[in-house]
Amino acid sequence: MNLSVVILAAGSGTRMKSDTPKVLHKICGEELLFYSIECALELSDDVHIILYHQADKIRQVCEQRFPSTLSFHIQDHANFPGTGGALLQDKKLLSTKYPKLLILNGDMPLITPSSLTPFFSNSPISMGVIHSSNPFGYGRVILKEGRVQKIIEEKDATQDEKEVCTINSGIYCFDRDVLESYLPKLSNQNAQKEYYLTDVIKFASQDEISISSIDVSEEEFSGINDKSQLAQAQEIMLNRLRKKAMKDGVIMHLPHTIYLEKSVRFEGECEIEQGVQLLGKTLIQNSHIKAHSVIRDSQIISSDIGPMAHIRPKCRIENSHIGNFVEVKNSHLSGIKAGHLSYLGDSEIGEGSNIGAGVITCNYDGKTKHKTLIGKNVFVGSDCQLIAPLKLADHTLIGAGSTVRKDSKEGDLVISRSDQKNIADGFFMFFKEKK
Ligand code: UD1
Ligand code: CA
Repeated sequence: MNLSVVILAAGSGTRMKSDTPKVLHKICGEELLFYSIECALELSDDVHIILYHQADKIRQVCEQRFPSTLSFHIQDHANFPGTGGALLQDKKLLSTKYPKLLILNGDMPLITPSSLTPFFSNSPISMGVIHSSNPFGYGRVILKEGRVQKIIEEKDATQDEKEVCTINSGIYCFDRDVLESYLPKLSNQNAQKEYYLTDVIKFASQDEISISSIDVSEEEFSGINDKSQLAQAQEIMLNRLRKKAMKDGVIMHLPHTIYLEKSVRFEGECEIEQGVQLLGKTLIQNSHIKAHSVIRDSQIISSDIGPMAHIRPKCRIENSHIGNFVEVKNSHLSGIKAGHLSYLGDSEIGEGSNIGAGVITCNYDGKTKHKTLIGKNVFVGSDCQLIAPLKLADHTLIGAGSTVRKDSKEGDLVISRSDQKNIADGFFMFFKEKK
């Protein structure tokens, strides 16, 4: 499509009450602005981002995620603040490639390319409007004989205008030359001393330029201004991610209790129980994740995990059974069982090995992390401490309660614990009780 997209992201976002720029707050693990950028890149190869507050920081994270595809602009100080000012550079419309210009906001992560299709008509101006039961805070769309006449911001509105429930979504598609002719006329003579983009609508209406108003959904087109709206948007996004996963064949128990980030992938037949959190770049393939487990940045293949297991970054777990209260980090587990209460960090464990209850890899000596390498068919009895660096050969048997510091050879029985003494009547002596 011959369309350029401009994403407005220069506002200070004061209502977020945060040192983090508004557009870098995340829902479902992804920055708000990234959602708008992804949507824009599906529609156009000419995407511009307008920055001002914390511009360097925002630009840096965007460039990391979308290398060399975006144009960045810093809003002129003379035209700041204001949504209209954001489109000006040296008093002229900033230079874009195509004759049509779609304006998106960096704080509307729920908009999808398909809901923008009605904006791409022959009309020189298309603007999204919302019929809202709670118009407070938004620009009101004032109609005259059914035609859009102007947009009045909350702070400039009369009492009568405030009663209007048709609000401006802040998303528009303009013919470039129309926008170009009106932008230099903007002034900041209004309650907020801002260069309002909405005034372009008023000027165009005065010149009887046709303005097409497009009904859009309040849920999708409401901007995020504070942390309560951030949480609401996340709920909606979660719903979408869960629905998509289920449509793709994932079984979810009590789906509304499952937290899922955008970068999580499912393959094959998966079952996810209630209260599970799947975070970061995680792949779940043909696996069953039981209640209240947390998995981050890991690959789980043909395995069952939990309930209440914690799989931390950089794990690859395949053909394995990981039971309750097992924590695993930076480990490759292949064809193993670790049924209960273990910590397996910086380890590699081979096929057929069994990790008893309460086994801990002591991977950290206070200065450095070390590896624990466990071969195939190793049986580690319950409550052992494996002090890394450590290498256990195939077919090692470790007696329960051992503290293991030395590597083993194939076939070794390893045991390190003091002999048991049974002292007759010791109980009665200790508690000074009679038998
Ligand atoms: C704007 C609209 C309002 C509409 C509402 C919908 C104007 C004047 N008002 O109000 O009619 O109902 O959106 O959500 O346009 N921005 C810049 N540079 C600036 C100021 C803002 O790039 O100088 C960016 C912000 O980062 C944000 C977007 O523009 O992404 C909207 O700004 P915001 O301050 O949230 O506008 P609203 O007051 O919500
Ligand atoms: Ca807003």
